Formats: sequence, C-alpha cells, structure tokens
Amino acid sequence: MRIDLAQTVMRRIDSLAELTDEPGRLTRTFCSPAMRRANELVGSWMREAGMTVREDAIGNLIGHYAGIPRPGGIVDEKVFLLGSHLDTVRDAGKFDGPLGVLTAIACVQHLHENKTRLPFAIEVAAFADEEGVRYHSTYLGSKVLAGTFDPESLKRTDADGITMAQAIRNFGGNPERIAASRCEASRLLGYAEVHIEQGPVLEQKNLAVGVVTVIAGQTRAKVTFTGMAGHAGTVPMDLRHDALCAAAGFILAVESLGQSRGGLVATVGEVAALPGASNVIPGRAILSVDLRHPEDAVRKSACQELQARAEAIAEERNVKIDWDTAHETGAVTCDRSLSVLLSEAVKARQPELALLTSGAGHDAAALAAITPVAMLFVRCKGGISHHPDESVSVEDVRVAIEVMNDFIPALARSK
Ligand code: GLV
Ligand code: MN
Ligand code: MN
Repeated sequence: MRIDLAQTVMRRIDSLAELTDEPGRLTRTFCSPAMRRANELVGSWMREAGMTVREDAIGNLIGHYAGIPRPGGIVDEKVFLLGSHLDTVRDAGKFDGPLGVLTAIACVQHLHENKTRLPFAIEVAAFADEEGVRYHSTYLGSKVLAGTFDPESLKRTDADGITMAQAIRNFGGNPERIAASRCEASRLLGYAEVHIEQGPVLEQKNLAVGVVTVIAGQTRAKVTFTGMAGHAGTVPMDLRHDALCAAAGFILAVESLGQSRGGLVATVGEVAALPGASNVIPGRAILSVDLRHPEDAVRKSACQELQARAEAIAEERNVKIDWDTAHETGAVTCDRSLSVLLSEAVKARQPELALLTSGAGHDAAALAAITPVAMLFVRCKGGISHHPDESVSVEDVRVAIEVMNDFIPALARSK
C-alpha cells in the first residue's frame, strides 16, 4: 500500500513539535539542544526518502537526492534546492518552517518510491535559523548557503552572553568553515519553498495554496536606552532618568509610525527593563524593533525617522540611546519563470490562482542573492501564525505536495 504523504507530513510535524527547549511550549532556537534532536530526526527522514545527508558548518541539514547517473561519473551535477527552516519563535506554532522542510522531503520520497531520477539533483535544506530569535539576526542558515553571512555576526552574544561562534561550536559546527559552506551559484538551478501563508488571504478566497510574488524587506534593530537606576522610594520624580519611561514613549512612536504609512508594519516585540526589580528605577531598557515594507525606500526612510525620534526622546529625558541595526534585507521579487511553472501546477489543482505578497521573511529571500526563487503558500486557519494555534489542514498539505510533485517534473522538462 502506498504511504499517504500528506498524513506522513502531518505526523512528522507533530513529532517535531515535541522537540522543544522550553517545557510546555514549542521554542526551538538556533544551535539549541532541541535543534540538535530535530536535525537527527529530520536527517533520518531524509535518509528514508533516499537522500544522503550532511550538516554544514552552521548546522544546516542538507539532504541530497542524486540525479540521473551519467556515464563517466557525475562531475558537474546541477542542483535544484527545496527547503525551509527548523528553528521556531518562542511559544511557536508547529507549521512555520517544518511544513516546508517536510513537504520537500515528501516530494523526494515520492520520486524515490517511483524510482524516478531527474536530470539534476534535488537537495532539501533544513535551515538552522530563519527566525533570528537567539541573535536578532535572521536567515543565518540560508545566508551561509548564499555566501552572504557576515562573519562579524559571530561576535554577537545571546541573552546568556554566549557568542554565536561558541554556540555554533557547542552545536558541533565550525565557525571557521562558514565561508566554505557557501553553495556555488553556478551549481544551483533555483530554490522553491513551501510555507504557511501566515495571513488570511487564502482562507478568505477559499483556496488551499497560492503563489508568492514579493517578500517584504525587513530591518531589525536592538535599541538600548540608558538612564540611571535608583531607589524607587527615595529618588524624587523630577530627578529621575528612567530608561523604561523613555522606552515607553518610543514604543508608541513605533506604533504610530507603522499606522501612518500604507503597507508599513512596525513592531516592538521584546522589552527588557534592567536591573528589573519592583523597587528599582529602571536604569536600562533594551527593545527590539522590527520594520517591514514591500518597498525598500519606504522602509529605509521610516527607519531613519524612527531613529531620529528615539534620539529626540532620549534628549528630552536626558538618557542615552544606542541603536544597533542587527539585520537588514531588501524586498525580494520571486523569479518569473519558476513562478509561472508553479502557477501552472497550482491552476491544475484548484479553480483559481492567488498571487500573494509576503510580509513575513523567508529563507527564499536570502537564497535570492544567488539563485532564482519561488514560493508556495499554504492556507492557515484564521491567518494565525507565530502562535501555538497555528493550524493547517491535511487536505491543504496534500494539495501542496501534489502541486510540488507536478512542479518538479515540469521544471525538469523546462531545463
Ligand atoms: C519570520 O517568520 C519573520 O518574518 O519574522
Ligand atoms: Mn518561517
Ligand atoms: Mn516565522
């Protein structure tokens, strides 16, 4: 009896959701113990699907399904890459990332079961970091493959003071070999990623899947206000330099800027008040800022405006401000030829083609630096994502797998 690949994907997503760094909720961050177990489990599924498996210097797991053997051995085999990420946000849903990795493995399993080889290899990448939770700098895994990883980021520290270089070593990776883990652009034919939509459009249109046209650019920064800590009972109100009050004013400025421009989204998702005691005036407040827009010029000017606003607030309150841009990526347009092939496959499986822009970031955005990319979104319930209630139906997963199973041979015919 043939295995139902959609059911297999759903079961595997449940198994992966058990692998967490925080008991009682799903949190799997870059180079963590849960990520180690995830790589082992996903690696076993890759092998089951007929792939050889390797882990690169930053901890990306990569499965290789060889193409049609050529006389005299394979010297210059081209690769089409599929994949997504295995890391999660804090208290995450279980589909963001794993859905793309596991549907990709299912597609290879389909080829393997049918004893089909293509005129090129398929590789499945399970990226080590797309969310950027641990180091505020996202796409770490896919940037290594794309050769755009900034070695300076190895010096960044996490909340426990562990440098990224050390975290990679603890994981079994090798920070010195990162540059050597890049994938030669000339080897790649392209990259396609399946991902949950993380928005409501497909549900509103009553469609299982849609094709992505543009991935919004994003800036992430760490903003620190430094005032003066002191006794909450003795320092008079007019003599305080309360860093958290400065931060509070800034947070509202972020929100109103986001509301003032069409398409702009602006978020403060993390706040730390230090030293952090009810009877101590906060001497330091550290915030994250996340700004996104499909047009880079709008995002960049919003960012400058926000920086100026932070400086003005700091001056008014006589506190210091430090703005550290941890991450910046431009908007990415998906490749036209790949998207046309993907759209044809979608049209064969559902009555209408939905073209979507993505406000969320994806590994495809990093890979676009070296190869054409395409993305397939899968409907999610209520548009909910980055939340434990994230939900995708097995029927929609089945459509996504069927679309990809049509897309891959169509790609082979087009080459
Ligand atoms: C990743 O999910 C992001 O867009 O933040
Ligand atoms: Mn994701
Ligand atoms: Mn995400």
